Amino acid sequence: MVYSLYMEKKLLQKAERTHHLTREDIISLLKLSEPSALFQAADKVRREFVGDGVYLRALIEFSNYCKNNCLYCGIRAGNARVQRYRLTPTEIVETAKKAVGYGYKTVVLQSGEDLWFDTDKLCDIIRQIKKLDVAITLSIGEKTREEYAAYHQAGADRYLLRIETTDKSLYEKLDPSMSWDNRVRCLHDLKELGYEVGSGSLVGLPGQTLESLADDLLFFQKLPVDMAGIGPFIPHPQTPLSNEKPDGHFELALKMMAVMRLLLPDINIPATTAMETLHPQGRLLALQAGANVVMPNTTDTEYRPLYALYPGKICLGDSAEKCRGCVERKINSIGRHVSSGKGFHGDYKKGK
Ligand code: 5AD
Ligand code: FES
Repeated sequence: MVYSLYMEKKLLQKAERTHHLTREDIISLLKLSEPSALFQAADKVRREFVGDGVYLRALIEFSNYCKNNCLYCGIRAGNARVQRYRLTPTEIVETAKKAVGYGYKTVVLQSGEDLWFDTDKLCDIIRQIKKLDVAITLSIGEKTREEYAAYHQAGADRYLLRIETTDKSLYEKLDPSMSWDNRVRCLHDLKELGYEVGSGSLVGLPGQTLESLADDLLFFQKLPVDMAGIGPFIPHPQTPLSNEKPDGHFELALKMMAVMRLLLPDINIPATTAMETLHPQGRLLALQAGANVVMPNTTDTEYRPLYALYPGKICLGDSAEKCRGCVERKINSIGRHVSSGKGFHGDYKKGK
């Protein structure tokens, strides 16, 4: 016991100093039953590399149509019980304007893979929102390199595309008809085109191993990503994985996030909303274990319950204005503050 505590301390010191860990090192950190020293190390590295400021990103869930059928996802095409909705381009731009009015400097446009929004429509929306002087993040799935280039040209700055898992066979089992290689291709294309690239994983998928979670972190480090979101898998009752249990996923996701901060000290890491679904203080605990970003929901209240990727989503009945205030108060309650900048990767070191 004493020996293993000593080893843990050595490992954390090595990570804080070098930001390099082997696969075996990562696995032993993910196995920790008492991870408070890991969280403290991640918190220290976060403060040193990205400071005490928290970047807010306004999340707009603009369509829950999806052509894919991920086994874990509540809005999968095969879920006939979902009431589908799609905001019009004007509604999307109006929602973005409201977000800017609440002080947001980044707008995240997220949807299922909805083919109604072709390149022309999306580029037009991006151009209009860009006039508001905000950073634009897209989270709309797998596209061709040409499509990604067009969105970037129109003004999109960042792109979120979780790899979900680096275990290729697990990925292709859980995301039937999708190709893991194509997803990796997307991430490389986005990087080459000059986007800030965000990826991430689901934690607690059936059949997922600690080895593959360690591989996820090494994959993010190799790319390297500019941002990465770690979310616990929460079984949705209207999906084929409805009988799974989310037990232990919160703790493991928190450990993944903390190790990620040690490996990628200056990237942007969101305290994900799914964390707060599993734990009432989920986002605050995440902010104290490596995270420095929160993405409050800015979608109109009538659509929020329909964008149910997983059950128990927080703030379903709350207005965008209420979420904005609530999140800031929570952030202040732990001695942190909302950052005023757009929050690009590396801005803190540049004094922005
Ligand atoms: N539980 C938690 N997160 C989920 N996502 C999809 N389904 C679930 C679920 N059941 C996540 C995926 C996707 C992101 C937008 O939402 O990781 O990339
Ligand atoms: Fe929509 Fe997976 S169900 S991308």
